[in-house]
Amino acid sequence: MDFEPKWIQYYQAVEGRSPRPTLVKALEGYAQDAHPLPRFAVDLGCGDGRDTVELLNQGWRVLAIDGEPEAITRLRQRDNCDRTYLETRVQRFEDLTLPPEVSLINASFCLPFCHPDHFPQLWEEIVLALASGGRFCGQLFGDQDSWAVYADMTHHSHDQVHDLLTPFIVEWLEEENHPGKTVLGEDKHWHIFHVVARKR
Ligand SMILES: C[S@@+](CC[C@H](N)C(=O)[O-])C[C@H]1O[C@@H](n2cnc3c(N)ncnc32)[C@H](O)[C@@H]1O
Repeated sequence: MDFEPKWIQYYQAVEGRSPRPTLVKALEGYAQDAHPLPRFAVDLGCGDGRDTVELLNQGWRVLAIDGEPEAITRLRQRDNCDRTYLETRVQRFEDLTLPPEVSLINASFCLPFCHPDHFPQLWEEIVLALASGGRFCGQLFGDQDSWAVYADMTHHSHDQVHDLLTPFIVEWLEEENHPGKTVLGEDKHWHIFHVVARKR
C-alpha cells in the first residue's frame, strides 16, 4: 500500500490535535519517577508534531524523526512551542540510527508502517537506544487489523506483542479491536495495541 501520497492530507486532517494518550501516560509515569532520567526524547514518525510540541512544552530536548520531509517542514513551522531544544531528521525507519541513553521513545501510530523485513532491526534499535528505566510509548497494530493484508506493513499477534515487550516492564497495554474509520473518513477495522513500557 502506498501511503506516501496520503500523509499531507493526514497532517491537514489532524492539525492542532492534542498529544496522544500514550504519551500523556508516559509523561505522568515520568513525573512520578523517584530518580528521573534527563529529559531527552525521540519522537519517531513525529508527523506534524502533535507529540513533539507537548514534549518541548514540558521542557524536554527532542529529536523528532519522520520519513516524510513535509512532516518536518510543518513541525518546524509551528508557532506553539519553543524550538530551541528541537532537533529534526528526515529518516526512514528502515535506516534508523538512534543516539544512546534516550529517556523516552515515543512512536505514535507509525511503527506498523515499517516494512516487516526491517521491523526486527528497528525494534532492536529502539530497545538498545533506551536508557535503563527509559520508556517506550506508542502503538503496534494487531493481526486482525484490516491493513494486515498489506505485505509492506508490520502487524503483530497478541503473543508477538508480549515477546517484543520482554525487555520492558509494561505500565499500560490496551487492545482495541473494532470497526471504525480513518481520520480521512475511510472505513477500516482497527486492531491496535496501545503501549507504555519501561525498559528494565
Ligand atoms: C499516522 S502518521 C502519525 C504521525 C504522528 N505520530 C501522529 O500521531 O499523528 C505516521 C507517520 O509515520 C511516518 N512514516 C510512515 N512510514 C515511515 C517509514 N517507513 N519511515 C519513517 N517514517 C514513516 C509518516 O510520514 C507519518 O508522518
